[in-house]
Amino acid sequence: MSKLLSPIKIGRNIFKNRVVMAPMCMFYSKTENGVLTNRHFDHYVARALGGVSGIIVEATRVNEFAGIRKVDLGLYNEEQKQAFKKLVNRVHDYDCKIGIQLSHAGRKADSSYEDIVAPSSIAFGDCKIPRKLTVDEIKSLVKDFTNSAVLAKDAGFDFIEIHGAHGYLISQFLSPLANKRDDEYGGSLENRYRFLGEILKSIKENVDIDVHLRISANEYSEDGNTIEDIIKILKFAREDKVVFNDISSGGLIPNPPREIFSGYQALLSKKIKESGLLCSAVGLLSDFRLCEYLLQSETCDMIYQGRALLRNPNLVYEFANNLNEFEKINLPLDSYVSIKNKR
Ligand SMILES: Cc1cc2nc3c(=O)[nH]c(=O)nc-3n(C[C@H](O)[C@H](O)[C@H](O)COP(=O)(O)O)c2cc1C
Repeated sequence: MSKLLSPIKIGRNIFKNRVVMAPMCMFYSKTENGVLTNRHFDHYVARALGGVSGIIVEATRVNEFAGIRKVDLGLYNEEQKQAFKKLVNRVHDYDCKIGIQLSHAGRKADSSYEDIVAPSSIAFGDCKIPRKLTVDEIKSLVKDFTNSAVLAKDAGFDFIEIHGAHGYLISQFLSPLANKRDDEYGGSLENRYRFLGEILKSIKENVDIDVHLRISANEYSEDGNTIEDIIKILKFAREDKVVFNDISSGGLIPNPPREIFSGYQALLSKKIKESGLLCSAVGLLSDFRLCEYLLQSETCDMIYQGRALLRNPNLVYEFANNLNEFEKINLPLDSYVSIKNKR
């Protein structure tokens, strides 16, 4: 019996297997209203139908100006919420949990926004130079994240994932590479964590929903956070009621010096799991044997899938076929057998 197709309880949610769709921006929308399109519906429902136990909706803006692209999805108004509500219901029809990644791009926001903001006025590579946020603006962004979390709960999402990775706004605050502030939001690790901590505390006070966190556990720079720093940050976040950690890497410096191979980020997950935290592994994990090995060897608790699921929405069925464990995925085998017998 595989671990890959065995259920697990995370926070209050039971996931029917260990395969979750990682957040992936699709840029399907032609408008800037942030509302799901029909194509988004089909895209996510196809993966739910294909057997994943959970879906994390792509990076979704917490306000109008927070997008990586202006056409990113948004969750800050009623129209957006109502569309998500329909998607959540459709995905739930297939016994699949659904979360949403709440995000602000910070200095990596769409360059056609007039005003781009960040913890410090330092550009990412040759991107537009951002304006340093005031403390009042930071407090207002905490409210934006909280408001989106409230709307996510109203829309019926099972959990939210805070985007603290890939060099976007929260990741910028966490990292000494992008945060050069000399007030209470910069300097020490505790101060760099403050923005994320305030978001998590505010969500905890205002919304009853499970919170997951995505983080870059390797910043690929000697001057960035170390894995030990990241584990400290994740432990602060656990105090602030984060129930699960989605372990990714990079995004703080352009063209990081890293080798990409199957499971290239899994060693980071292993260190985090060894420190007593629940986490996933992601990154070129399309081989079911590698996935099963990572779970059996206590490297991670969940396997997140990105590009392999874009190529094959039915990846979990393929895994079940390879593992010879069809009975685990609720295929209507009885009807298949009865049709076969009539031929
Ligand atoms: C088209 C595409 C869009 C992505 N968008 C996001 C995103 O919105 N948020 C995020 O945290 N990661 C994003 N990622 C990263 C994926 O979630 C995942 O971590 C990465 O692709 C590695 O996993 P894989 O090898 O299974 O694809 C994106 C990746 C791809 C390929």
